[in-house]
Amino acid sequence: MSFDAAWLSLREPADRAARNGRLVDVLARHLAGKRKPLLLDIGCGTGATFRSLSGKVSADAEWLMLDNDPLLLEEAQRRTDAGDRVSFRRHDLNDLDGLPLENAATVTASALFDLCSLAYSAALADRLAAKGCGLYAALNYDGRIHWSRPHALDDDVVAAFNRHQKTDKGFGPALGPDAATELSNLFKGHGFRVETEHSPWLMNRESAALQRAFIAGFRQPLEAIGGFTSDDIADWIAFRHAAIEEPDSLCSVGHIDLLALPA
Ligand SMILES: C[S@@+](CC[C@H](N)C(=O)[O-])C[C@H]1O[C@@H](n2cnc3c(N)ncnc32)[C@H](O)[C@@H]1O
Repeated sequence: MSFDAAWLSLREPADRAARNGRLVDVLARHLAGKRKPLLLDIGCGTGATFRSLSGKVSADAEWLMLDNDPLLLEEAQRRTDAGDRVSFRRHDLNDLDGLPLENAATVTASALFDLCSLAYSAALADRLAAKGCGLYAALNYDGRIHWSRPHALDDDVVAAFNRHQKTDKGFGPALGPDAATELSNLFKGHGFRVETEHSPWLMNRESAALQRAFIAGFRQPLEAIGGFTSDDIADWIAFRHAAIEEPDSLCSVGHIDLLALPA
């Protein structure tokens, strides 16, 4: 599955506002005692996780950013001005044995684990536990979407969208909305201290461009899952697009941030 740099840029401000600050503080304290801690950002995209944590975790942290998309890596490199503290590597995360965990203090990721399967997440948890390496996984979609202006099809649309979230996104059947719960169970099983916090997108008219793209992104999943006529889908999208422009209209999209640290 590939991601467009423009879409990642569109969501970055909402992601930044949504990220839970308390978990970032706990992560910062965990890293504070370490000299030049290495953070391995998996599925880095254009580097949003690095940008969101910069200035909040150790200033001497070193980063290795991994993605399998060369265009996103190129963009990440272009947008990152941190000298040799940050390096970039093309890597397919399915190659877990090749994950450069040597010396990594913490693995970081954002908006990634809802794409991953349970088997993949379990294998990654095994590897991190064996290395005593923590995980900060932000912005895992949790399946909850709420609009202040209701439409009769909302519940059916969200249920179908959530079923589609569980289809294969390149790692086997995806965890989708169950990502944070499953990650939490896996890392607790390894004796890690696991904390989670809600990190919803809260979108009003100021996020109109993100909302429009988000709503347009329902068409393909709804067509793929079935159960809706083309008119149903077109009408629902038109209603949702029009509602964005209404005063006081709000949309929240649930996410959960997770921090798992070795005990
Ligand atoms: C939703 S984007 C999130 C990007 C970034 N972390 C952010 O928060 O903006 C998911 C990222 O995972 C990457 N990705 C997906 N499958 C991958 C794989 N098999 N190996 C490496 N990266 C992968 C995508 O290229 C994309 O950059």
